[in-house]
Amino acid sequence: MSFDFQSVTDRSKSRAEKYTLRQTLFGTEDVLPMWVADMDIETPSCVVEAVKRRASHPIYGYEEVPDSAYEAQIAWMKKRHGFEIQRDWMFYSHSVVATINTAIHAFTEPGDKVIVQTPIYPPFLKNVTRNGREILRNPLRKTAKGDYRFDFDDLRSKIDEKTKLLLLCSPHNPVGRVWRREELQELAEICVEHNIKVMADEIHSDLVYAPNVHTPFASLSDEVANLTITAIGPGKTFNTAGLAISTVVVENETMRQDFDDAYERIHFAQGNVFAHAGFEAAYREGEAWLDELLIHLQRNIQKLTALAARHSDKIRFIAPEGTYLAWIDCSQLGLSSSELKRFFVEDAALGLSPGVSFGKEGKGYMRLNFAVPGPIMDDAIAHLDMALGDFDEY
Ligand SMILES: Cc1ncc(COP(=O)(O)O)c(C=O)c1O
Repeated sequence: MSFDFQSVTDRSKSRAEKYTLRQTLFGTEDVLPMWVADMDIETPSCVVEAVKRRASHPIYGYEEVPDSAYEAQIAWMKKRHGFEIQRDWMFYSHSVVATINTAIHAFTEPGDKVIVQTPIYPPFLKNVTRNGREILRNPLRKTAKGDYRFDFDDLRSKIDEKTKLLLLCSPHNPVGRVWRREELQELAEICVEHNIKVMADEIHSDLVYAPNVHTPFASLSDEVANLTITAIGPGKTFNTAGLAISTVVVENETMRQDFDDAYERIHFAQGNVFAHAGFEAAYREGEAWLDELLIHLQRNIQKLTALAARHSDKIRFIAPEGTYLAWIDCSQLGLSSSELKRFFVEDAALGLSPGVSFGKEGKGYMRLNFAVPGPIMDDAIAHLDMALGDFDEY
C-alpha cells in the first residue's frame, strides 16, 4: 500500500497551535512553523475513520478506555519493541507531561533532587521546580563529532541521598539520540546502586531510524523494571496529540500503588470517546503507514544533511537516530540567541524552537521539526539555503 506524504493540508484555520501562536512567538505570521512537536502530515486514515465512526454515535457521555485498545497497544509494544506489558500495569493519561508531574509527586518529597539531562524538552525542567523539587543537572556530554552521550562521571559525582528520581528521555528530544542498550544499562546500574527511580518518557520510541533500535528502559531486567515508570502512546507516532491519550506503565506493585495515590488525587478520569477509538485503530491498523512515514522522514533528513553539507562553514547537523526533530548547530554563525532567532524569522522565514529553550546547553542551536510533507520541506530548505547563502555578517 502507498500513503501520501506529499499533499499539503492547510492547518492555519484549524486552531493548530503551531500556526495560531506564530504572531506571539515570532512576531509575524510570515514563517513556516516548524517548532512544536506534532506533524503537518495527516493522521493516518485508519484513525480518522475510527473517530468518524465513533462520532456518528450521537451520545458522547463518559466512556472507559476499552480493554481491546490496551490489548492492541500491548501487542504493538511486544512486536515492535519486545516490551512485554500486562494490562493491570497500565494507566490512562491525557498527557505525558501530566504523567511526569504525577510521578514527581508519587516518588519524591519537596526538596528532593530529580536528575535532568540537558539539553532537554523544556517541561522536564519546569516540572521539577514548579513542584518544589530541586533539579540535579546532568548535562549530556558532547563528543568531538558533535553528538551526545550520557555523562556518567558527572552523574556519579553529583548524586547524594536527596537524589530520588531520574527523568529519562528515550529517544531524546531535542538531540535525537536513540540510546544504545549498553548506555541504558550503565545508567540503570547507577540508578539501582543508589535506589533512584526512573521516569522513562518513551513517547518518541516508534520514530526510530534503522539500524537504530529503541530499547525500553524497563525491559533491561526485572531489577530495572522494578524501579521504572514508562510513558508511551500514539501521540507522536500517529500524529494524535490533539486526541490527548497516552499510557503509563508501572510494573512494580508498590510503585504502582504510590503512583495510583497521586493519580487519584488529581483525577485523570478516562479521557475522551474519540481518543479511545483513534488509539485502538492506530495500534491495530497503523503499522504499514508508520513504516512508510519513517521512509518519508528519512528523505527529509537527507535533504537537511545535503543542506548542511553545502553550508558546512555555517551550520552543523548530525542526522537524528530517532524523532522528527533536527538539532542544528548554528554556533559557527557567531550570533547571540536573539540574533539567531531573528536570523531564522526574518532572513529564512522559519519558525523554529530556539536551542536555549532546552537549557543553557542548547545555546547556538535551533530545533527544526521536519515532520512535514515533501513540498514544505523543500520550501524550508530553499529558505534556509538562501538565507545562509546571503549570510555574511549579522
Ligand atoms: C519527550 C516529550 N515528552 C512529552 C511530550 C508531550 O506529551 P503530551 O502532549 O502527552 O503531554 C513531548 C512533546 O513534544 C515530548 O517531546
